[in-house]
Formats: sequence, C-alpha cells, structure tokens
Amino acid sequence: MISLDDDLLASNPLRENTVEHRIALPSIMVIFGATGDLTQRKLLPALYSLASDQPPLPASFTVVGVARRPWSTEEFRQKMEDGVKKYARAAYDEELWKTFSAGIFYEQVEFNDINAYRHLAETLTQLNQERGAMGNRIFYLATPPSYYSDIVRNLGAAGLASDSPQNDGQGWNRLIVEKPFGYDKATAKALNAELGEVFNEDQIYRIDHYLGKETVQNILVLRFGNYIFEPIWNRQYIDHVQITVAENIGVEGRGGYYEDSGALRDMMQNHLMQLLTLTAMEPPTGFSANSVRDEKVKVLHAIKPMDTSTLLKNTVRAQYAAGITSTGKYVPGYLEETGVAKQSKTETFVSAKVEIDNWRWAEVPFYLRTGKRLPKRVTEIAIQFKRPPFSLFRKSGAEELQPNILSLRIQPNEGISLKFGAKSPGQAMRIHAVNMDFQYGSSFGAEPPEAYERLLLDAMLGDSTLFTRRDETETAWELVDSIKAVWENFDSDTPMQSYEPGTWGPQAADKLIETDGRFWRRL
Ligand code: BG6
Repeated sequence: MISLDDDLLASNPLRENTVEHRIALPSIMVIFGATGDLTQRKLLPALYSLASDQPPLPASFTVVGVARRPWSTEEFRQKMEDGVKKYARAAYDEELWKTFSAGIFYEQVEFNDINAYRHLAETLTQLNQERGAMGNRIFYLATPPSYYSDIVRNLGAAGLASDSPQNDGQGWNRLIVEKPFGYDKATAKALNAELGEVFNEDQIYRIDHYLGKETVQNILVLRFGNYIFEPIWNRQYIDHVQITVAENIGVEGRGGYYEDSGALRDMMQNHLMQLLTLTAMEPPTGFSANSVRDEKVKVLHAIKPMDTSTLLKNTVRAQYAAGITSTGKYVPGYLEETGVAKQSKTETFVSAKVEIDNWRWAEVPFYLRTGKRLPKRVTEIAIQFKRPPFSLFRKSGAEELQPNILSLRIQPNEGISLKFGAKSPGQAMRIHAVNMDFQYGSSFGAEPPEAYERLLLDAMLGDSTLFTRRDETETAWELVDSIKAVWENFDSDTPMQSYEPGTWGPQAADKLIETDGRFWRRL
C-alpha cells in the first residue's frame, strides 16, 4: 500500500489546475437534445455536483434545455431532479436543489427552424440580464450527430456564435460536441469544416469522456511527475503494452445507434486511442492545451500503416451470443437486441495489434481489446517489461519468474500496481510474483469527481487540454478506417465470429497475442 505523499503532489504537472484556480465565471449552458439520456444521467448530475463543490459554480449559473419535445420548464426540472437524485456524485440536498433548479429552463426548438433560434436568442438575452450571466454561453450538442450541422448553422445565423457584438462586446460563446465525431475520417473532416465556418477552433470542445477520468489524467502525472519511470519507458525495457477496455453490459437498448458504430467506432477510435496516445506520447514542453495535443497527434501519425494481409492477421472482431452470464442471468445475443438487423455484421468485440513506428516504440506491440458482455467492467493499461537478460536463479525456479508489469487501473478500483519477483520465505531460493499497490480510494480517501464534472468545468474555464483537437479527431480515424475497409472489402464473406457472454471474446483474440508468444492478462 502506498500512502499520500506531499512530495508527489508538489511535482504534479496538473498543479496549476488545483481547486483554488478553478473558479468558473457566470454562464448559460444551452443543451441541445436535453430530453435525452445523457442530460439526465450525466450532464445535470455533473453540474449539480459542481454546484455543491467548494468553490461552487456561480449562483447565477443557468441551464437551458433545448429539444423537440413539448416539455415545460417544470417538467424538465422534475426529470432533472430525478436524474440528480439517482446519478449525482454529490448527495441530494433539498435546499441546494431549490437554488440550483431555479436556474434551469426548457425551450422547445425544431433544430432546422431558424425562427426557433431567433426566439432562443431572445430568451438567452433575457436570462442573461435577469441572472447576470455576463454574456457567456456554452452550447452543448447532445443530439444525434445528424442534427449537428443544422444546429451549428442556425446558431451562426441567429448571431449566437460570435463572441461579440451580440453580447455588447462582452462574454464568450463556446461549443461542446459529443461523440461520435463523424463516421470516418471523411465525415469527421466535413463536420469539422462545418463547425469551423461558424465557430473558431478555440471555441470548440470535442468531448471524449475518458479524458475526464481522474486516472486517465494520472497517466501524465505518473509519467511526467516522477523521474523513475520515464528512463525505462521505451523499447529497451518494455516488451509490449496491453490496453483493455472491457464492459460486462450489452448494448442496453442502444442497438439502433450501435449498428452503425460497432466496437471499433464506439470505443476504439476514441477511448482506446486516447489511452494509447497518453501512454506513448513524448513529454510535452508544457501543460498547455496545444503542447499536450501536439504530442498526442504525433503518436497517431506514427502508428504503423498495415497492408491488407497484416490488417486481417492483426485484428479480430466478434459479436456476443446469447447465453448465461457469470451471475447466472440469461442474456440475449447481439442479433436479438432491439434495433439490430438479423444479419448484422456489427462487431461488439474488437482486438488489434498495433505498432508505433518511432524511436521510442519501434517493434513494441500494443495489443488493444474492447468489448461488451465480457466477464467484468475493467479498464487497464498494462506495461509489460522485458525479462532479465540472464537468468541467475534458473536452478532455483527462475524459469517461473514472471516479467515485471506496471498496470494502470483506470476503472474500477482505480490505482497502479507494480508486479515484481520476491524471494519467498524459507531455505530454498524460490521466487514468487508479488504486487506493490497504490489505490486511489484508500490513499486519497475521497471519491474522484465524475469525468463530466471535470470536462464541463474545463469548458467553462476555457481549458481545452482534455478535449480533442480538430487534427487529432481526424487522424484518430485513420487506423479505424483502414481496419473497417479491410473487413468490409476483404473479409465480408467470412462469417462473424461469436463469443459467449462472460468470456474474454473469441479464441481468435487469444491467438492474436499467443502467436507472438505472449498472453492476455487475466483481469
Ligand atoms: C461510451 C460508449 O462512449 O462509453 C458506450 O458509447 C460505452 O458504448 C461507454 O458503454 C463506456 O464508458 P465508461 O465510462 O462506462 O467506461
């Protein structure tokens, strides 16, 4: 067990973001698609938790929910209250809810109707005056992506995008965009161009909620806030890296969305690519948004292109079948889920072997896997080191010696553990693998904020470090596009593999790594 050490905090590169500097200015957040799940489950609970924090959100902070359904403000407040009670990190407090909810409003808008935006502009001007929001506005796109273009164009046409003079030369307008960001590189580029016609790049915040997770940010602190890891963080010492993002849930009623997305687009293009780039990037020259993102983009550019046969060899896709989970529950197969085509070839599991062609990582494979209906919910980055060059303890059982593994547990049981060999007590020279563990919960004794809390506050503060930049989003599609193209064009006749719920995917995924004489970690 490792305890909290003040020295560790002192060397924290995120220090400039500590709480005393994180006081948001008053603003109005306009959420498009506010009647959807995301607003009730994530956004409002996150905003409420921020309002209950120290320092809290400004009392004048205002939310305007916007969607096509004819809800009243009262109805919207009621639904949001249910969400806060159920999902917020902060405990529900009647008094706080009373003041917080007095700043929540609802407006019905048809997304393609310019007059509705003109009306919205009037509402915002009035609320700005009544509540003292200093002319600051954040527009949050939480609708299906097919509405993004209409909304952004109409925001521009209604004069809601530019930082002035609509606001008498005061205040700013920012745009937060939810995933999926495009369907491939071409559509991501087109969407970026459309957004770019109305908003400047520094007004745009593209969300990948994995970047808001404390433990994901801790990858940077571990690597660049300490001196002992970086000298061995390279091909000389590291044998390979495994990144696992496993979920035990299925598509949970999102079959319609998931059909066009699959594990590759839903998880690999964004969340796994973020974990990969943060693990592999070079030290940035500072902790500014562009320094960090420049280094991440360099990693994406360095991903080794694969020809067709390599892509077919280095990737595995599969769908979950119906079956009994580890808790004894019967669950339907992917093909039986609502909104899923009977002949669907959409993957719910993907694993891939990727290489990064640069000085630090040449010939160090990164094995990635993600899927639904796997045995448990776990996200982990495991750095497996090389074995010692000479086996001094061979006669004493050193053949059994396990390689050192540094594992970064992103969720749950957030923490970091280092596996190494130790002599087991007794006369014989026997070596056993043991773990040195750091656990967030026991070391800091506080629950980390939810990812959306961090990201929403960052957007209010104008800090885009933990949001994806235009070129980053586009480049992150390249690997996924190349895999998809090969699957569609060269592998379309191969029957989709399936896997039992509660297992770690199809056998082919084991083969992918075992062919190289390596094994997936048992998590
Ligand atoms: C979302 C995906 O981006 O991430 C979902 O669309 C997935 O399919 C979710 O379940 C996983 O997020 P988390 O934070 O639960 O790991």
